[in-house]
Amino acid sequence: MKNKCTFFSLFTTLLNFCVSSAELTVLILPQNLQKLRASMDKQCSQEEEEEEEEEKMDDDSENSQLLQLMARHTQLKDLLHAHHIIGTMFKYQGKGLCASLTTAYEGVYLETYNVEIDLKPRLRISRHNVPPFIPLSSLAEQSNMQTDIRSFLDTLSKHLNAFAGRKQQLKLVKELHKSVEVLESNVLCSVLVMLLTLPGEKSTVLCTLNYTDHTRLLPSGVHFECKDKALPDAPEWKKNCSLLMETPVHKALMTMKKNETIL
Ligand SMILES: *[C@@H]1O[C@H](CO)[C@@H](O)[C@H](O)[C@H]1NC(C)=O
Ligand SMILES: *[C@@H]1O[C@H](CO)[C@@H](O)[C@H](O)[C@H]1NC(C)=O
Ligand SMILES: *[C@@H]1O[C@H](CO)[C@@H](O)[C@H](O)[C@H]1NC(C)=O
Repeated sequence: MKNKCTFFSLFTTLLNFCVSSAELTVLILPQNLQKLRASMDKQCSQEEEEEEEEEKMDDDSENSQLLQLMARHTQLKDLLHAHHIIGTMFKYQGKGLCASLTTAYEGVYLETYNVEIDLKPRLRISRHNVPPFIPLSSLAEQSNMQTDIRSFLDTLSKHLNAFAGRKQQLKLVKELHKSVEVLESNVLCSVLVMLLTLPGEKSTVLCTLNYTDHTRLLPSGVHFECKDKALPDAPEWKKNCSLLMETPVHKALMTMKKNETIL
């Protein structure tokens, strides 16, 4: 119920945004969007299909056709699922296309980013409100925006959602864990240095989380530093390290607190 309300208000906001845009010509309805995606799919994978066609000739048993259909079905389901999660909306506007990329973390909608793309003479990002520390133009290049606009938007959405999620985790750490001191973080939330206090003897552990893969919500490296040089190598602390690698940081700290590992 709550989710529905959030979605409805989000939708209303987006709708207002669209309607208030003077340049708006067509709001793409979901059915049309699917057609558009399908036709984009076709264009992008024409070459692949030609290859597949040849393979089919070789291996034309009913079983393999069924398997292919099942694979295609799964592929389509994944695609729809992905688009559902990332909540990308398109509309035509002026010379091009405006994509709205919604970010969310743990069922909470966060910022929505807009990217306007001119379609002619070649695809070009004209306006956007993506933060400057997200490498928009190199993402466009790496994901071949010219030939595969959807892959570009999916990649961008991954980066934006991971950033929004890491930022939200940092906010939750500050809100929920008053005894944890955040010493350092950066705008991309790809580094987090915290001072953890151990119960009893009041000694502290410096904990560094390093999010090298910017499309992920979880760190790729965890590092402990302590006066007791042996501590980070103790098997228990290795387990705490795994915990921090596998669990969003605010939740990992909750477990460590319950466990009386930290104050
Ligand atoms: C981040 O972690 C990787 C792998 O553990 C390491 O090589 C790199 O030096 C770390 N960077 C920072 C800034 O800590
Ligand atoms: C983390 O380390 C503490 C202290 O050594 C230990 O008691 C606890 O079991 C460890 N946590 C996990 C999840 O293993
Ligand atoms: C800490 O938590 C882990 C996993 O939740 C558990 O296996 C471990 O026994 C706990 N340690 C203590 C000291 O409570």
